[in-house]
Amino acid sequence: MKQTFKTALAIVLAMNCLGSWAQWGAPADPNPTVKLKDAYKNYFMIGVALNQRNVSNDDQVNLVKAEFNSITAENDMKPGELHPKEGVWNWEKADKIANFCRQNGIKLRGHCLCWHSQFADWMFTDKKGKPVKKEVFYQRLREHIHAVVNRYKDVVYCWDVVNEAMADNVRPNFANGKFTPGSPYRDSRHYQLCGDEFIAKAFEFAREADPNALLFYNDYNECDPGKRDRIFDMVKKMKDAGVPIDGIGMQGHYNVYGPTEEDIDAAITKYKTIVKHIHVTELDIRMNTEMGGQLRFSRGENKPVAGYMNTLLTDQYNRIFKIFRKHKDVIDCVTFWNLGDRDSWLGVNNHPLPFDENYKPKQAYYAIKNFDAKLDNAQPKEDFVSNPCNQPGQEWPKVNSQGYARFRVEAPDAKSVIVSLGLGGRGGTVLRKDKDGVWTGTTEGPMDPGFHYYHLTIDGGVFNDPGTHNYFGSCRWESGIEIPAPDQDFYAERTDIPHGNMQKILFYSKSLGKMQEATVYLPNGYGKLVKGKNGKMEQQRYPVLYLQHGWGENETSWPVQGKAGLIMDNLIADGKIKPFIIVMAYGLTNDFKFGTIGKFTAEEFEKVLIDELIPYVDANFLTKTDKWNRAMAGLSMGGMTTKLITLRRPEVFGYWGLLSGGQYAPEEIKDPKCVKYIFEGCGSKENPAGINKSVADLKAAGFNAEGLISEGTAHEFLTWRRCLYLMAQKLFK
Ligand code: XIL
Repeated sequence: MKQTFKTALAIVLAMNCLGSWAQWGAPADPNPTVKLKDAYKNYFMIGVALNQRNVSNDDQVNLVKAEFNSITAENDMKPGELHPKEGVWNWEKADKIANFCRQNGIKLRGHCLCWHSQFADWMFTDKKGKPVKKEVFYQRLREHIHAVVNRYKDVVYCWDVVNEAMADNVRPNFANGKFTPGSPYRDSRHYQLCGDEFIAKAFEFAREADPNALLFYNDYNECDPGKRDRIFDMVKKMKDAGVPIDGIGMQGHYNVYGPTEEDIDAAITKYKTIVKHIHVTELDIRMNTEMGGQLRFSRGENKPVAGYMNTLLTDQYNRIFKIFRKHKDVIDCVTFWNLGDRDSWLGVNNHPLPFDENYKPKQAYYAIKNFDAKLDNAQPKEDFVSNPCNQPGQEWPKVNSQGYARFRVEAPDAKSVIVSLGLGGRGGTVLRKDKDGVWTGTTEGPMDPGFHYYHLTIDGGVFNDPGTHNYFGSCRWESGIEIPAPDQDFYAERTDIPHGNMQKILFYSKSLGKMQEATVYLPNGYGKLVKGKNGKMEQQRYPVLYLQHGWGENETSWPVQGKAGLIMDNLIADGKIKPFIIVMAYGLTNDFKFGTIGKFTAEEFEKVLIDELIPYVDANFLTKTDKWNRAMAGLSMGGMTTKLITLRRPEVFGYWGLLSGGQYAPEEIKDPKCVKYIFEGCGSKENPAGINKSVADLKAAGFNAEGLISEGTAHEFLTWRRCLYLMAQKLFK
């Protein structure tokens, strides 16, 4: 029992520490039985490039079978591997991959028949090493293509016929005092010998060999506007001349910074005007600024991936898959280039894949797989207004009527800006530079209503958003944002009612040997003379609620982001409660670091509270000092504190409340008469079943217990505002 409580609390605290549970959460998989290929069954096939190890190791084989429904041989079907010399064929490895596909009913993408690299270079020269005529070359290429295509035509459904024939950059030539446009083609041996005719020939040979296979032209940097247009122009020219090109293969060797969604979208949109089939053939996303299929690249450093880099990776995968889904009419297969980071041709230290070096799914995997189709076409309403948490004169951030948040941050030289707030499991919202060079971004969907802490991560460093006020949470002053809630009137700042006030008090704690701070809410009218029992005018005395914050927070959290004072003012003004005092003290919770929370006993705070703070408050404020006029409640780790102290010192408090901070079991409470009212609450996105059961058990055991499940909220302040609102109405009765 104790252990479960500790574990539950550790989770609760972990959520709290991260600022905002709604946006974080471990990448636990809500749909573990649905794999990549299943998630995309109405969109396109999900493929993977395999090496020999992948098809020889049971665990990897199982992973491939579970997740993918298309396979590409990473190297084993390339001309240079299959056919290194005239008359010499190495079929073994290619056969092994093809047989794997045959046995498991998985489709095979053929890669590739004609490429400048890993090519059968012998085709260019005769036995004496002299260059051959292009007719000889064509004959050799034709025989090669026929042999390979025929051998695998039962299982290969498409071929990358020509790979990477276009130039990366085109520079004008300067000769005889004149500029002439540079060639759009790669200056390969193929091109030198044949011009662009070799492209047409290769496609013709492939079509002869298998009229049923789809034939692709495949290239990288295919979204770069210049290269995109070169690819487009070439394919169009060929198709106009009757060359049998069925599709364009977009290699998709991208990075976390680009290409932009706009460039990917524009490339697909353009390509689909000339081909009916687009395959993303070699997808991976590097963690540096390089991209493309060039065979020279940096291999990264052997060090753990920084958390924010992983967020950028997840975000880029999320963005590009959204565009791919949008173009499902033309995209029929998306293939990852390699199974896990360990296999990546870029080296394990570029971390470019959804599966890590141990073949464990990364956050990116969940983002790709568990996409929300409803959000794909969702456009936020353009009724964004500046947020109430903003500093005076600051326009940004803004929130719209649906709960989307939009951010704008000036950081001209930054490489990445991430807002820690966003939909669950993604690590936040990644901003992109807009056309004015300013970082902007909108949450992918509506946020939970209520208050959220957040911060910015700029190139890995953590900063606050200069647009907003600061709120103490996560053991630091964080930025904050308020998403309008349907019931927000109960904590509204009303102009038509009198308000109480918040006092900051400083008291000396002998047990700690230092000063301690607390905030005291005094209801409106506090200190005024009223007619007493015997008709004499006297100062009214009030019951007191000791109300604790959570881990990472302090004595300012309830008064500021908790809106405790406004909630009280409104309840009092509406006649729903009789006025009482609230004391919000720092609960020493932040002195406990993660890993030691299991040892948290609240004994130090118990001394401060009962031996020092309560006597101070009773001596300096107009309080009623018996236990039936004293309550204790707390949120999250403050709930844990409350539970420990109320159970140990039932003679001090007559009303107890746990807000997302655990539950009481009837058998833990020694004397059923020692408590008049127990409140337990949490958000509907937390552990409502636990609260409901606990409240039912307490009631069955004869306790006056009440629960609240806050609709649509998680481990955040709207949950606790609602809890306070209800609980306050039941105290001291
Ligand atoms: C890569 C392989 O992954 C590496 O193992 C090999 O050393 C070089 O080729 N574009 C392509 C792929 O079309 O065939 C390349 O594959 C990566 C770039």
